[in-house]
Amino acid sequence: MATPSKKDQLFLGSFIHSTKLDELTYLHNAAVFVDAQGKIVHVERDCDEQRAREALVPRLGWGAGEDELVVVRGGGTGEFFFPGFVDTHLHASQYPNVGIFGKSTLLDWLNTYTFPLEASLSDQAKARKVYSRVIRKTLSHGTTCAAYYATVDVPSTNLLADLCLSYGQRALVGRVCMDQLAPSYYRDESPAASLAATRESIAYIESIDPSRSLIRPVLTPRFAPSCSAPLMRGLGDLAAEMPHLPIQTHISENKNEIALVAELFPKASTGAADDSYAGVYDAFGLLTDRTILAHGVHLSESEATLIASRKAKVSHCPCSNSAITSGAARVRWLLEKGVVCGLGTDMSGGYSPSVLEAARLAALVSRHVAMGGDEKAKLSVEEVLYLATRGGAEVVGLEDRVGGFEVGMDWDAQLVGLGVVDPLGEGVVDDQEDGNVDVFGWETWPDLVAKWVYNGDDRNTKKVWVKGRLVHERK
Ligand code: GUN
Ligand code: FE
Repeated sequence: MATPSKKDQLFLGSFIHSTKLDELTYLHNAAVFVDAQGKIVHVERDCDEQRAREALVPRLGWGAGEDELVVVRGGGTGEFFFPGFVDTHLHASQYPNVGIFGKSTLLDWLNTYTFPLEASLSDQAKARKVYSRVIRKTLSHGTTCAAYYATVDVPSTNLLADLCLSYGQRALVGRVCMDQLAPSYYRDESPAASLAATRESIAYIESIDPSRSLIRPVLTPRFAPSCSAPLMRGLGDLAAEMPHLPIQTHISENKNEIALVAELFPKASTGAADDSYAGVYDAFGLLTDRTILAHGVHLSESEATLIASRKAKVSHCPCSNSAITSGAARVRWLLEKGVVCGLGTDMSGGYSPSVLEAARLAALVSRHVAMGGDEKAKLSVEEVLYLATRGGAEVVGLEDRVGGFEVGMDWDAQLVGLGVVDPLGEGVVDDQEDGNVDVFGWETWPDLVAKWVYNGDDRNTKKVWVKGRLVHERK
């Protein structure tokens, strides 16, 4: 398990981060100074190690001795620091099922594959095995912050929070609320029982990290069909009572699901203005600026307008939407409506633990939307990387903390290294040593980043830090 740095740190080399939706900023020969609490305290351009040590370290009042200062050099060819990824939607409890979905679609997938596995994680030993693995796996892919769904079970949900804290991954951890339309062996017994269990889990998670330095609880109504109106109302009341809590749920993923919501929550029953899915969450006080809505594949114009007006956020899950054939979400359209978007792996609706893969698939799915007639739907490399970092940070309400290399933000970062063809100039090609991306040496930096997005994987993720602490190192 990783240990806290507790020392000041100096990072040297190339730094790349998003500064606007369609813009990456490149800082070469730069130095980033991270204090012992993991906060970025200074960024200096055109700064070699000698100047950093002799001029800047003393100015910060730091000691330069080996026991006081850690120096990390990331300046090799095709090597750069990049902000850690934010996975805005994934089910830690479904990780053993990645890739196992056959030809299912959402509602039969839930019953066939998902509920039985989630229910089985009330076994603490099994939950420990699964949750430890998913945390380490996602960290190894550069995910420094994750918005997790656990299960209905309180002790194992709390265990997930404990494990995130000990492995050092920033996380939102949600106990899943569901009191209907699920098998009797896997659902809350009543709205009151669901709310009590939710409070219990929130209290525990807040107790292990009272300053919310890394871990925070998140209200998690699974989705409207699995929550009765009294439970939805109770969760809306809880959201109002605890205005610091984020909320996460699913919306408008699959057409049969949407029909089910209209049937279960006719507007006469909720007092909503229409029968729309977004209107149901809104009617229960669950559509807020702290709400993370996964999918949003089939939203209507008026729903997108409502979501934007409430400042709720959307987690785009292109891997899942493709795998279980939900549809192609229109990200450009959402962005133009003013809806903040990030990326989610949505394991195990999605089969990949990698946000880089989600970024690649977001680019690809946007091209399918474009082929459907909306040419401007295409997302660029810069745009999908923005969604993976800054956009995701905003989705989870941490845009002041993470997502870029700004003074005052935490050092949540990854060191990316691409494979250099013939690094010693001896005509030797070192096949696959550094993964699937070959650098020939003549590429521009934007070309290198594009090659990483389209062909990179965890072999390129050399080191990962959260809040200054080294949490993964590729051996
Ligand atoms: N809708 C309700 N529950 C789930 C889930 O676990 N995964 C996905 N993708 N959609 C859902
Ligand atoms: Fe999901």
